Amino acid sequence: MKKIDPCTLVLFGASGNLSRIKLMPGLFKLHKLGRLSDGMKILSVGRGEMSRAAWHAEIKGMMDAKYRDGYDHEAFAQFLERNHYHANPPTNPDAFKKMAATLGDEKVFPQNLAYFLSVRPSDFAEVVEKLSGVGLLDESKYWRRVLVEKPFGTDLATAQDLQAKLTKHLKESQIYRIDHYLGKAAVQNAMLFRFTNSIFEAFWNKDYIDHVQITNNEILGVGERTTFYDATGALRDMFQSHLLQTLAMVSMEKPADLKPENVRAAKIKLLQSIRPIDAKNINKQAFRAQYAAGRVCVGDGHGENVPGYQDELKRDNMPPSNTETYAAVKLFIDNPRWQGVPFYVRTGKRMHEGNTAISIRFKKAPMMLTEHQHHNWLIVNIQPRECLKFEIESKVPSLDVKTRTMSIDLAQRVAGDDSVDSYETLLLNLMEGDPSQFLHIDEVEAQWKLVDPIVKAWAEDKGPVHQYRAGHRDPEESSIIFESQDQFWRYSIELGGDKH
Ligand code: BG6
Repeated sequence: MKKIDPCTLVLFGASGNLSRIKLMPGLFKLHKLGRLSDGMKILSVGRGEMSRAAWHAEIKGMMDAKYRDGYDHEAFAQFLERNHYHANPPTNPDAFKKMAATLGDEKVFPQNLAYFLSVRPSDFAEVVEKLSGVGLLDESKYWRRVLVEKPFGTDLATAQDLQAKLTKHLKESQIYRIDHYLGKAAVQNAMLFRFTNSIFEAFWNKDYIDHVQITNNEILGVGERTTFYDATGALRDMFQSHLLQTLAMVSMEKPADLKPENVRAAKIKLLQSIRPIDAKNINKQAFRAQYAAGRVCVGDGHGENVPGYQDELKRDNMPPSNTETYAAVKLFIDNPRWQGVPFYVRTGKRMHEGNTAISIRFKKAPMMLTEHQHHNWLIVNIQPRECLKFEIESKVPSLDVKTRTMSIDLAQRVAGDDSVDSYETLLLNLMEGDPSQFLHIDEVEAQWKLVDPIVKAWAEDKGPVHQYRAGHRDPEESSIIFESQDQFWRYSIELGGDKH
């Protein structure tokens, strides 16, 4: 357990959705687990005036909604002792001065300050400038860190612009750019299982691996988030950071050790070695589509009819658009380990199943008993189940010589394990001062450099976007990106998921 300095967590956007659903319940959990430092305080910042008692009642509402099966009320009463509220009305020019005065009370607030900016991305730079203006970023006596929610820019130029604005007031070491995928235990395991076992390194390369698929399929649609989503699209929403980071975790070279600077250096190197997609190859390397009305599975085998993306835009009085809800991209990594191995990265909303996985298909076996003999697969499943699964050919015990595919299933989670949300991990890392699971600016830039040309080409292409029925598998046409005819999308982790 790392030691955490006493600190104050200043939560901007404290009454927003993220705070209600993840941050406050997560902080309570950390409190209960004894992971917050003694004396650690939380100053929630909102636009409206509110008494401390009224804010405590709000927090209680959040816990009641989150922990429906009940929670420890004694621990909750102690947790409330940590919680304060500060009104920061945007119209009040003295709001930040007042905040500095509040935080300046050393008897109440530890002076190491961690800011969590869960605000509109267009407000990141302004909040930082104002904090700096009242001396709240000054590290001469205590540390000051700023966690910036996603997205960090909407393309390379805006990311660089935001970076320039932030670094007027902050050093790189003070900036924590979040990607909540890096807080997922299974994503962290995608790096760790390779380097904490001796058996993988020998075949983790182009000589043995045929291709890798990084998949995020969701059953959910865009829902109420049409305004955000239509300006963003699947490529920027999921691919630009969550999936490229997942790819980096499974393909990076071994860092010298797990020090933050070394983990990040190894990831930066990997991301910078992904070959940019040439404009003339975009139609062969990237495919987009949009969901049409259909029927999705809602658990217990029940189905539900759902509208298409265009219907949802119409419902919200928005014009029709070409924004993709499905994207599949083929990438190559130009380094000795991965030369020539395709990485297929795909994400879709309103698919037939909800699953996030890294699926690795190995090359043809040295002995093929039949033309259809399965390749070996290793699946690193991220959610809903966290596991590693190996699929291996094994002789059927009978008078004939034939094999069948058997699997070894290594559950990552066993009964009794903590169930930790990625935000809980990342909040703790922020307070510990461990940026290894946060993005360095070089990672952000490398990611935008890969994504920008595709976004641009798709924005310019006004032709109709391919439609797929909600609740169905990948559109057949997406197979245009496969390198060879015997490659196809891998589905669930169950045996047989490698069948078309
Ligand atoms: C968010 C995206 O960053 O990640 C959402 O904005 C997406 O569109 C979500 O659904 C997926 O996160 P998770 O943790 O549910 O896989």
